[in-house]
Amino acid sequence: MYGVVNQAIQGLVEDNFGRETWVQIRNRAGVDQEFFLNNESYDDSITYDLVGAASEILKVPARNILIDFGKYWILKVGYEKYGDLMKAGGSSLEDFMFNLPNFHGRIMLVYPNLSPPEFKTEKIGEGHLILNYYSHREGLTHFVEGLCLGLAEMFNEKLTITLLDSTNDQMWHDRFELLIH
Ligand code: HEM
Repeated sequence: MYGVVNQAIQGLVEDNFGRETWVQIRNRAGVDQEFFLNNESYDDSITYDLVGAASEILKVPARNILIDFGKYWILKVGYEKYGDLMKAGGSSLEDFMFNLPNFHGRIMLVYPNLSPPEFKTEKIGEGHLILNYYSHREGLTHFVEGLCLGLAEMFNEKLTITLLDSTNDQMWHDRFELLIH
């Protein structure tokens, strides 16, 4: 994945636990890079190893790290560093969810070699959606959960998100139920 993702994991750790803890996590993950370049591609295993090492050193399940990382990605990286792109994504959580399928298309102008996630949103009722997430990658279910919770916080809306099921037939596919209230 592009280095901007690993930079954000570093930011999440440093903001909450300080530089020393980050260096410990980086060493535990066996990563020798002192820093990541945002627009250079790194092997996905670096990102997974950093999450695994953070889980071990902080003694927090990887699921929680991924949820916090998703929230941090929206509120610190998206909102603060890519404000215009985020604003173009929609004016409410529901609106944003329906525009999500096209969102990374615009990001590809900045990061052309992106291997983006795919999304499909279905409306079930008032404030009641099903979000389908498809990826060539595995293990990012709780990252998506955190991203949605971060978006809800960004729009000052309340969200209950439930994972309905996951399948892995050619592509990873998670179905989430979203209740916006
Ligand atoms: C301006 C904001 C955003 C930027 C700059 C951005 C950029 C990126 C980048 C660079 C990657 C790494 C993929 C790669 O290098 O191949 C990525 C992955 C991902 N993004 Fe975004 N993104 C943004 C917002 C969002 C939002 C709002 C969502 C969903 C709610 C989202 C969902 C994901 C997911 C799930 C992945 C993991 C890749 C996968 O599933 O295969 N992103 N994004």
